[in-house]
Amino acid sequence: MKFFLDTANVEEIKRINDLGLVDGITTNPTLISKEGKDFETVIKEICSIVDGPVSAEVIALDYEGMVEEARQVAKWADNIVVKIPMTEAGLKAVNTLSQEGIKTNVTLIFSVAQGLLAAKAGATYISPFIGRIDDMGEDGMELIADLRMVLDNYALDAEIIAASIRHIGHFEATALAGADIATVPGSLFPKLWSHPLTDKGIDGFLKDWEAFQNKQNK
Ligand code: E4P
Repeated sequence: MKFFLDTANVEEIKRINDLGLVDGITTNPTLISKEGKDFETVIKEICSIVDGPVSAEVIALDYEGMVEEARQVAKWADNIVVKIPMTEAGLKAVNTLSQEGIKTNVTLIFSVAQGLLAAKAGATYISPFIGRIDDMGEDGMELIADLRMVLDNYALDAEIIAASIRHIGHFEATALAGADIATVPGSLFPKLWSHPLTDKGIDGFLKDWEAFQNKQNK
């Protein structure tokens, strides 16, 4: 499973990218606005740091506006993926953009029907939002597993990005359900690699080593 970061924070991206773990970045207008910098500046900076795909979302909601914006944004860097909302106009835009060779990520997917249509329209990526589905009292993970089956059944090329990941359980279940990619908020990353028993284990080994050294030096 590929590992994307779901953030527009350049410092966070640099730090985690230096570990060699980051396969790509997803952003959205909420994440960009938190950075207090111009959209183009932030996206270009992220694209220069990360080799993999960087998703940047259009603001327009009409077909012409989305296509126009997508064409501009796609020029900012070679690794741009244009994020398009899952609407009727969005599907039409994805169809046009895929024919022009512009990569797209259809966002705000909440059902199998939406995912299937986006994949058929030519989306490079589809983003089911599992955390927001769980918030409604439903099971977001079921959607990932169902979409995996549907894309495989019909040999559709779109890759599934498990989005709206809120905790370790989401991350692990996403891998088990067969998502191609998990996009993880930077704030969740330390919780993925850390474990209290690892800390306790390191502590125990060091204490035993220290005791051994003291004994030898006597
Ligand atoms: C990813 O592409 C989405 O923008 C993001 O995962 C949304 O997460 P949220 O539901 O926590 O806002």
